Amino acid sequence: MNILFSFFAVLLIIVTVIIGVDTAQLKFLFGVVIPYAAVATFLLGIIYHVVNWARSPVPFRIPTVTGQQKSLNWIKSSKLDSPDSTLGVIGRMVLEILLFRSLFRNTKAQLKDGPTLVYGSSKYLWLGALVFHWSFLIIVLRHFRYFAEPIPSFVIFLQNYDGLFQIGLPILYITDGLILAALTFLFLRRLTDSKLKYISLASDYFPLFLIISIAVTGILMRYFTKVDIVSVKELAIGLFSFNPVIPEGIGILFYIHLFLVCALLIYFPFSKLLHMPGVFLSPTRNLANNSRMKRHINPWNKPVRIHTYEEYEDEFRDKMKAAGLPLDKE
Ligand code: HEM
Repeated sequence: MNILFSFFAVLLIIVTVIIGVDTAQLKFLFGVVIPYAAVATFLLGIIYHVVNWARSPVPFRIPTVTGQQKSLNWIKSSKLDSPDSTLGVIGRMVLEILLFRSLFRNTKAQLKDGPTLVYGSSKYLWLGALVFHWSFLIIVLRHFRYFAEPIPSFVIFLQNYDGLFQIGLPILYITDGLILAALTFLFLRRLTDSKLKYISLASDYFPLFLIISIAVTGILMRYFTKVDIVSVKELAIGLFSFNPVIPEGIGILFYIHLFLVCALLIYFPFSKLLHMPGVFLSPTRNLANNSRMKRHINPWNKPVRIHTYEEYEDEFRDKMKAAGLPLDKE
């Protein structure tokens, strides 16, 4: 049910743009107004969430650790898995963000005969996720050739390495194959594992289908139907420089591709995809585990009125003396 709902939602997006552009000729709406609205929603949505997270109180250190905390000098501590300094935290964050290090520890639980619950290492999710995210990033960075003139040198560099094998014409990009393979794996993984299928929601399938459709329409444009790149670049640079134009000769596939991207941008701030900015603000990741070295006092604790022993003795001195109790001050 969740799969069908997500599938038809993406189909509806595609049908909407076909009707809007091909039948109703609303090219300015789909080529200019919606892309601007999508980018604004994306940016404002992210800013809203990041500001909200940044303002949330985090009075105590709550890092999740997987190594020995720093304590006595003769006990070896784990600098990366239980970092006690800012440098250690930076190291852990870099490895987390670039290599998904915590996902590398992913385990799977299986019920064997007995019945016995067996835990084993499972690296496939880590590999699939890593391949998908890196391919996505490289593809998006390569797209800057449409938005900038002259083409930035980092784009040329990426294009050269991505097309290293020099297969076909236009040259096949390695990331195009990798992103499709990784997305297919991430989708099939939800279908083939019954436990995972049970907990998967429409909000898990929808972004998968959306990104698969973006990749497929892009690949169709590059290798099969072809698109007038000069006109696309005119439109893209127009958007970037706030002088929007709608050039003639751009096929419907491009508008589908663009509208799917807009749908992704609009959906982003309302979805689990927010883990992208979220990882930077996660207190379980970005705080040093120095609770034994430093006392962290809740900054908004109300001052507590305490009654010291001296005050107590002052108050009850006569009674204590009469009862023969020892006194600090006679
Ligand atoms: C989330 C953002 C996007 C993703 C993931 C994406 C993905 C892709 C992929 C996988 C391809 C296949 C060829 C390649 O890898 O370069 C492609 C091609 C293409 N994309 Fe995108 N795209 C995105 C955004 C955009 C935007 C905003 C535009 C608007 C200018 C655009 C325009 C194109 C064009 C014109 C092609 C055909 C390239 C060619 O013929 O060489 N894409 N896209």
